[in-house]
Amino acid sequence: MRTPMVAGNWKMNKTADQAKALVTELLPGLKAAVKVERVLCPTFTCLSSVHDLIKDTNIGLGAQNLHWEASGAFTGEISASMVKEFCDYVIIGHSERRQYFGETDETVNKKVKAAQAAGLLPIVCVGETLSENEAGKTKEVVTRQLKGGLAGVVVSDPAKLVIAYEPVWAIGTGRAATAQDAQNVCAIIRAELVSLFGKANADAIRILYGGSVTGANAAELFGMPDIDGGLVGGASLKPDFIAIVNAAN
Ligand code: G3P
Repeated sequence: MRTPMVAGNWKMNKTADQAKALVTELLPGLKAAVKVERVLCPTFTCLSSVHDLIKDTNIGLGAQNLHWEASGAFTGEISASMVKEFCDYVIIGHSERRQYFGETDETVNKKVKAAQAAGLLPIVCVGETLSENEAGKTKEVVTRQLKGGLAGVVVSDPAKLVIAYEPVWAIGTGRAATAQDAQNVCAIIRAELVSLFGKANADAIRILYGGSVTGANAAELFGMPDIDGGLVGGASLKPDFIAIVNAAN
């Protein structure tokens, strides 16, 4: 049995004070949903204050990125061990990083390995753009992203690797994939995980759906056999996040 996970990706939103206010508002609902692995992924500058607010709970804290080098002359970057001072999770290869910041399957691969080496749980994002979707290339794209991003990755504990399927056209558009379409791609992802890591590992790796998840559509999405929860953007900044978490509970 896979424990469902719901992670909130706050993206570039909230100052530290605003983050504290949001967490304080969400905390009772988050604490109550004990059957779900709940994770908050604020900006780097909010990690310390959010960490202090949730440290006595089993709510997880994640970063939105890291750099694979251990230390040194890499101005503006944050290493895996620095992330690990506050977090147990990290989002890697989000489509916004691929689109705006030059992230490639190769850099995703380096980051996944650095995250694992630091003891972080990587949430590895894959997903096709609208034009790739319309060209019927979804399977080809997510398979390439998985093969490249996970090349040489060793799975010693399948509960410590999570894949997020986020169709780019569904992110922030209010147009989520239908539950069946999301399921179809998540099944393709799981089949690829079988060939990468074997069936037992693939059966135990969580696959999240992300892209315009709301309290209204979460239950149907999370009810699909290969969807083990969600990676939530906009709705993670609102009380609706609790409804989404509860849909997985
Ligand atoms: O990583 C979460 C994400 O990209 C989805 O964003 O705003 O469509 O829930 P949103």
